[in-house]
Amino acid sequence: MDFKAELKKYQEIVEKELDKYVRKDKCIEETLNKSMEYSLMGGGKRLRPILVIATYQLFKNDIEKCMPYAVAIEMVHNFSLIHDDLPGIDNDDFRHGRQTNHKKFNEATAILAGDGLLNSAYIVISEELQKSVQEELKEKLKIFNEFSLAVDRMIAGEYIDTEYEGKEISTEYLDYIHINKTGALLKLCVRMGAILGQSSEEELQELSNYADKIGLAFQIKDDILSEEGDEKILGKPVGNDKKRKKCTYVSKYGLQESKQRLEKITQEAIKSLDKFGEKAEFLKELALYIQNRNK
Ligand code: IPE
Ligand code: IPE
Ligand code: MG
Ligand code: MG
Repeated sequence: MDFKAELKKYQEIVEKELDKYVRKDKCIEETLNKSMEYSLMGGGKRLRPILVIATYQLFKNDIEKCMPYAVAIEMVHNFSLIHDDLPGIDNDDFRHGRQTNHKKFNEATAILAGDGLLNSAYIVISEELQKSVQEELKEKLKIFNEFSLAVDRMIAGEYIDTEYEGKEISTEYLDYIHINKTGALLKLCVRMGAILGQSSEEELQELSNYADKIGLAFQIKDDILSEEGDEKILGKPVGNDKKRKKCTYVSKYGLQESKQRLEKITQEAIKSLDKFGEKAEFLKELALYIQNRNK
């Protein structure tokens, strides 16, 4: 399989779909809409929607059925990035190789654009739910519930991240930050794909294990990149975690041990897909992509 080409195909599908949700009409709050568009359409790897779609495809091919969920999760992700960059949280000036939302617009607009994207996610899902026939609805409401619970965890993790800046942290709390602020959404993506694809309970469990591992791996790699990444490729600042005295894997374990842990968790993630055989090749490659990414 040509993983790079496959990944690009997925990214193009996602970009095209997201664009359908951009509000382009002339209206009084046009700048707010432009600010939401700036972040939503401003690049990024689109890992989360791709996880939803690729997991769904383990079971079914009619991917339009999982698209609203894929779009909603990317909206929430971009809301989290806008707020993460604000002066009161990470105070960063660059993301995706260009000015962060509050630098391009202003703080008030950025806060509200984040709120707007978060709420748009719920609009997208609730509209999709309304299309359901009765028996489908129960299963979909379960996803909606998981969706809101995962966003709740992401916000909690992000909060603990800020609370522990400059403080000593236990390994347990450090993992708590990572598993929540980053892992919760990634796990949700995989679970949505599986539930929509009508996986068995056992399959759902195995996919959840995979998702737990890539979620943690993703943030460990984020910590490593914040220490030794290439700012030009990354499109966001390097060294900012250290400057703000963030609790990261690198501050806790050092670079070398962080890399060893990352590799181990990635191998465990791949292993948890064993039962799916060849069908899961893309998802296995995606775990390696997370481990080896440079942006
Ligand atoms: C960055 O996520 C924020 C974290 C949760 C660590 P990504 O690196 O997936 O962000 P983009 O959308 O691809 O830039
Ligand atoms: C971001 O974590 C997590 C969320 C946005 C929920 P980081 O602050 O570590 O991510 P980057 O490095 O700014 O993308
Ligand atoms: Mg942060
Ligand atoms: Mg940040």
